[in-house]
Formats: sequence, C-alpha cells, structure tokens
Amino acid sequence: MLDIFCGNGAVSRAIHEHKLPVSAVWGFDGSPKMIAECECWRQQAKPADSQFFSHPDELCRSNAPRFQIVTINMGIFQLDLRARHFLFQRLLRHLSDDCVVIFTTYAADFEFSTEVAGQCLDVNADNPFKERFFGICRSLQYEPPCEYAEAIAPVFPKDNYHSLSCFFELYGFQLEPKPKDLSVLPIERTWEDRIAFTSIPVISRKIFGEEMPDSVWKRMSEVDGGPDTTYGTVMRARRLRRNWNPGHCFSHAGVDFSKSLPIRLATALVIRSQRGRVLFAKRGEGARDFRGEWSLPSCFAQERKGGLEGNVRKSMDEHLGIRLNKINMLQPLSIRFSQRRGDGSDWILAMCLFEGALEDEEVTPRTDKYSEVIWKDAWSFLTRLERTSMGDCTKSYSDFLRVIQGKDELLRGAPNAQHVGG
Ligand SMILES: C[S@@+](CC[C@H](N)C(=O)[O-])C[C@H]1O[C@@H](n2cnc3c(N)ncnc32)[C@H](O)[C@@H]1O
Repeated sequence: MLDIFCGNGAVSRAIHEHKLPVSAVWGFDGSPKMIAECECWRQQAKPADSQFFSHPDELCRSNAPRFQIVTINMGIFQLDLRARHFLFQRLLRHLSDDCVVIFTTYAADFEFSTEVAGQCLDVNADNPFKERFFGICRSLQYEPPCEYAEAIAPVFPKDNYHSLSCFFELYGFQLEPKPKDLSVLPIERTWEDRIAFTSIPVISRKIFGEEMPDSVWKRMSEVDGGPDTTYGTVMRARRLRRNWNPGHCFSHAGVDFSKSLPIRLATALVIRSQRGRVLFAKRGEGARDFRGEWSLPSCFAQERKGGLEGNVRKSMDEHLGIRLNKINMLQPLSIRFSQRRGDGSDWILAMCLFEGALEDEEVTPRTDKYSEVIWKDAWSFLTRLERTSMGDCTKSYSDFLRVIQGKDELLRGAPNAQHVGG
C-alpha cells in the first residue's frame, strides 16, 4: 500500500494496530517534521515493512513494489491540477494493474449537496462554526478583519465530482461510487480542534485576510463554542486500463507556467472509417471560433456527468449524429498552450484525443457548428494544411501524428511519446 501525504503515519499506525492484512505500507509527505514522526513510530512499533520518504522521487528511485492500494487521505485537494499530474505521472509505473486509489473528501474541499439522514441538506450553505466565532468576537467587542460572508468562502477553491472523474479518467481510473450513491456522513469536530486549526497563521490569513491578535485566540480557546459538524465521504478510483501511459504534455514556448492560468479541458475525436480515412469537419457559423476551418470534431469538457468520454459522445451525437459503440482514449493531455482570448488573458488548453471507428462514411452535420465533413488520409491532409489555420484539436492531432511517425526529432526521445490505445 502507498500512503500519499502520509502525515504522521496515521494510516500505517491504524493498519498495524488493527493487524490488517496489508504486507507493506510505504508513505511520503512533504513535511520533514511529519516524516520524523513516522520514523520515530517505525523504530518503536517495528511494522513488518514500512518506509517513509519526503519526496515522491525518492520513493520512485527506491526499489518500490507495485502498489495495489493507494491512499491520499485528505490530500488530493491540496494539489492543483498541474501538481496532481506531476504526481500521477511519476507514480503510475509503481501502481499495479488492479490498483485502487482511496481518499476522503470533506465539504470544505468538495462540492456536494445531497440527502443526509433523509433530509435534503445543502452542506455548503452556511457555517455554524464561523457564525459562533463571529458572535464571540462581537461579545468581545472585537471587529474581525472581514465580514462573515467573506469568511465562509472556501479557503481553497472547491473541487467537484466532474473534475475529479475527468482527472482519474486520464490515467485509466474510474471514480466510484456514482454521485447518487455517495454515502455522506456527518463528522463532528471539537471546538478546540477547530480553533487550533483556524489560528494557524497561514489559515487565518486565508480565511480572514489577515492574522488576528493572540488575545482573541486565547479568549476563543477559553470558551467552549460546542462541536462543529461537517460532512464527508470516502471515494475510490479503480484502475480499469492496463499498461496505460499518460500523454506527454507538449507546450508552446509562450506558456508562462509561473502565472496561475486557468486550465480548460477539451476533447477531440479521431474517427476512422473502414478504409482507414479520418473524418474532418468544417467549422460552421455556429462554432465559437475557427469558423470556416477544417478540424477534428471536438468540444470543451462541460460540467456534465459521464466524464470526458460521455462529453465527447454527447457532442458527436448532437452535432454530427454519430453514435459509436466503442471509443478509446488515444492521447490524454496531448497539448497545452496559451491563447489570447478576446479579453487578452491567457489560458491553458489540456486536449484529450479519443478515437473510434465508423463502418459507414455517411455523416451529415445536424447543427450549424459544422457546415460539411470530409474523409481524408490524416497525415497527408494535415501536412498540407497551414498550421496557423488549424484549430487547437487539429494541431494537437498533428503533433501526435508527427511523434508516431517519427517526424519530430525533438519529441522522438520524449519518455511518454508513444502511441497508446490505437
Ligand atoms: C491533512 S494531512 C493528512 C495526513 C494523513 N494522510 C492522515 O490522513 O492523517 C495532509 C498532509 O499532506 C501533506 N502535504 C500537503 N500538500 C503537500 C504537497 N504539496 N507535497 C507534499 N506533502 C503535502 C502535509 O504535510 C500533511 O502532512
């Protein structure tokens, strides 16, 4: 078992204490203090085979086994999208083909609104802990640095089921259970614990905009504001695809990764006919951009159920009347680059290519997103198209073909640049 962000080793300790049938627990955490605590426990308790590291690369360099269970308890939400990919791309080769990733989620990190104990509760609506906190401030005649309404905004942007399922899908994992089957549990936290956490300077600055005087924290810890209830659930992501290689991220030189650019996920579909030709569609009046250009059928990943694959299927059916029995992920995250939008800001596009086959070349556009379609030999068609007139998905596919065909010296040696799934 691999315990990502193992903290002080709570998961390893519980496994050891309850004599659970886990042969080895390896963990890593970015905090040296936490790793020191894990080491201290390891030397005392002498668990069968536990190892703790302070960086995933250290773990990967060691003779790590292939892990069957991975926990990232409370941790996945502390990583933004890029950091999640950084981690998963490193760890993937150490995960077994039937691996399961297990993690807890709380209302503070995750958007869920569901039935709790028969009542339909909006678990994100208000925050009784902070209401009481503000009440005590008033009784102390202390004016907090911000209003209650500002203080209940999440410390980090909340994640949701759709974005998590898209992330895991890229690595061949399926998120479970389905949203309607999530069993959401109330979890009580003591006033003392909540005050201890909220008074950590970095947390306090994030919630209230600035730190509060020690006298306020002292007073808060003297009163007992009563317990605070949050809601949480346990989810798992099960590995479905074996020998999966994550896509290599090509990027244009202009991307400034030091800025926190918004990332937009998009999907495109390479549809091959029995004759081996690929379907290209001319973008019509109803298309958002690149009107009049030939492109692969594509769409942005919207907030819909069904993850990336469900999204692309729905769009193909709506705009081209195409229903495919089976589609495969051809290249996840095949390209990322920035573009000037109308408002002059940059964003990063993370393009995922899917592929499928159609027996019949009879396809007619159903909406004005596309005006016509053609079937072409992809390589000769794309090498004749001006790169500047290609949409993002077409550029992405063209880069992909260059790597497959060994046309790009620079990328040929790239570690993950290989044809997957097709
Ligand atoms: C909430 S604790 C969870 C600890 C443990 N998994 C448990 O369930 O008790 C989160 C841990 O993640 C670690 N952590 C958070 N972000 C990290 C990052 N970017 N790199 C490495 N460790 C990180 C922290 O040091 C902390 O120990």
